[in-house]
Amino acid sequence: MFWKSLLFAALLAHDVSAQGSSGFLRFGCSQLVVERIDPLVNPGVNPSPHTHQIVGGNSFNVTMDPYTIDPPAQSTCTSCIYTEDKSNYWTASVYFQSPENGTFKRVPQMANGRLNGTLLEQEGGLTVYYMRPFSGKNMTTTAFKPGFRMLAGDPTLRSKTGSYPGICHRCLAASERTMGGNGAPCDSKDTASFPSKPCLGGIRITVIFPSCWDGKNVDSPDHRSHVAYSPGSSALAGDKCPSTHPVRIPQVMYEIMFDTTQFNNPDYWKDGKQPLVYSFGDATGYGAHGDYLFGWKDNALQRGMDALGNKCGSEDCTSVLKIQAGKDAIACTKSQQAKEDVGTDTCTYGRPHCWNTANIYFRA
Ligand SMILES: *[C@@H]1O[C@H](CO)[C@@H](O)[C@H](O)[C@H]1NC(C)=O
Ligand SMILES: *[C@@H]1O[C@H](CO)[C@@H](O)[C@H](O)[C@H]1NC(C)=O
Ligand SMILES: *[C@@H]1O[C@H](CO)[C@@H](O)[C@H](O)[C@H]1NC(C)=O
Ligand SMILES: *[C@@H]1O[C@H](CO)[C@@H](O)[C@H](O)[C@H]1NC(C)=O
Repeated sequence: MFWKSLLFAALLAHDVSAQGSSGFLRFGCSQLVVERIDPLVNPGVNPSPHTHQIVGGNSFNVTMDPYTIDPPAQSTCTSCIYTEDKSNYWTASVYFQSPENGTFKRVPQMANGRLNGTLLEQEGGLTVYYMRPFSGKNMTTTAFKPGFRMLAGDPTLRSKTGSYPGICHRCLAASERTMGGNGAPCDSKDTASFPSKPCLGGIRITVIFPSCWDGKNVDSPDHRSHVAYSPGSSALAGDKCPSTHPVRIPQVMYEIMFDTTQFNNPDYWKDGKQPLVYSFGDATGYGAHGDYLFGWKDNALQRGMDALGNKCGSEDCTSVLKIQAGKDAIACTKSQQAKEDVGTDTCTYGRPHCWNTANIYFRA
């Protein structure tokens, strides 16, 4: 039922008539920085074990103590379109490992047409969703508390377990390259592993976070157990939350697009092999995961969620939330704190530094 309504909204989302008829807020964020820093899993560690691609508020830092940081106050800009959102969103980078000589090259990200056409001129970034469940009626959600953070997925997984059904890869057809493909995320077209064949339109990675919270802890030792998926086989929110995690929170989802097309040589994709590997050393894709660190100003997220379907449509909540121009979001970048060459879009042209023989970005 939820998906019926969400799908309907997604199909309509680019139509002006869709305003006021959707169950999620969706917006784009451009790249803030690519570096080996992870204030959630490895606070204080510089460099952290592996590379990440990070978007959001520029108060992103090596250490972000939940009780003392204040991203809305400490950020002077955000790479996301809604300016009150100083949260940070990050995922692991993806590398191509040459089957010929074993060296690595970072796979460029590409913009997603779902960024509402505002951030298309940049290479990286991701699309963020804050979703509201539907179950016979539209369910209310309780926005996160200051300091809240969580992790979705399990970086140690190397086989299919069903533990994290909402984390998947879609092999895009050439025609889907710009918009990233339609339909429900993590449906039968998607795989928990990396795709097993070359993807003419690149790869879209989807990370769906849990939708229920224990109501007490802004974090937990594994960064996961203070939140839970609603019961059932799908990661997507129903209206039910388990008694251990009774508070329904907005369900966060990321979409990240990778331009894998320069690696589509069929020789790299045969005999059951594929050449991609996550920066944490996972060549299966099952360990895909995402990190979230809440940082909306005051009650802005709550206001946006509560106005869904009324003053807010999925792509346009500008009557309730402040928005900036795409170029201003793109201008919000941060210099690396873990200084090293992680490769850039210029790597596409094969500059020697783009190939890492030392494997320095890969430590699980
Ligand atoms: C990052 O943390 C360091 C050390 O606590 C601090 O000096 C610096 O101002 C912080 N940077 C930002 C952007 O908050
Ligand atoms: C390694 O192989 C890739 C192609 O798979 C090639 O582009 C690159 O130049 C090679 N690097 C070295 C150091 O041979
Ligand atoms: C749920 O909200 C959507 C807009 O988000 C609206 O179109 C729909 O009528 C609502 N459904 C119910 C049953 O309230
Ligand atoms: C998305 O595009 C619509 C139509 O151009 C515009 O009204 C709206 O403000 C945009 N929203 C975002 C989040 O960029």
